[in-house]
Amino acid sequence: MKKALKITGVILLLVFIAVQLYQPAPNVDKGPAATTDFMQTYPDMPAEMKTIMQTSCYDCHSNNTNYEWYDYIQPARSLLVEKHIKEAKEDLNFSEWNSYSERKQKRLITSIKKQIETKKMPLPSYTLMHNNAKLTHAQIKILTQWLETQE
Ligand code: HEC
Repeated sequence: MKKALKITGVILLLVFIAVQLYQPAPNVDKGPAATTDFMQTYPDMPAEMKTIMQTSCYDCHSNNTNYEWYDYIQPARSLLVEKHIKEAKEDLNFSEWNSYSERKQKRLITSIKKQIETKKMPLPSYTLMHNNAKLTHAQIKILTQWLETQE
């Protein structure tokens, strides 16, 4: 019985190691910084707001994710990290902001404000690991105040 457990343990460990070998291409754009980027679109956006967006939103909603070592652990990388990035970018990619129509930008500005105010973004599963990405009351205020000027 003890031996069977040991063998099962070794097999599970080998399976865990094997799945680590599959690593999808990272969400990192090696080209020049996108000229369509959200922050570049509004040159007078407060620096503080840029920092908040970079820390709390850009890992999923841009073409450049700042990966942490644990983001590479499979199968979580494929099932959570890359899945979230793909879905987030489909809805809203800050790197491509200025290629969106004015109408889409307006809709998204309202949507961003709502997601922040209702604390739906950044995703709670993300802030669990990235504690510094959690928005404080003061940070939410900085973002919503600016967003209101664009509505
Ligand atoms: C861990 C990844 C992740 C982070 C970080 C994140 N988001 Fe998202 N976001 C998603 C995903 C996935 C979706 C789409 C699925 C959904 O609706 O839940 C989404 C959807 C959205 C939408 C809806 C877009 C639409 O079409 O209306 C908005 C707005 C948004 N996010 C804004 C933000 C903002 C602002 C931040 C930073 C404060 C942020 N998100 C941080 C993953 C993320």
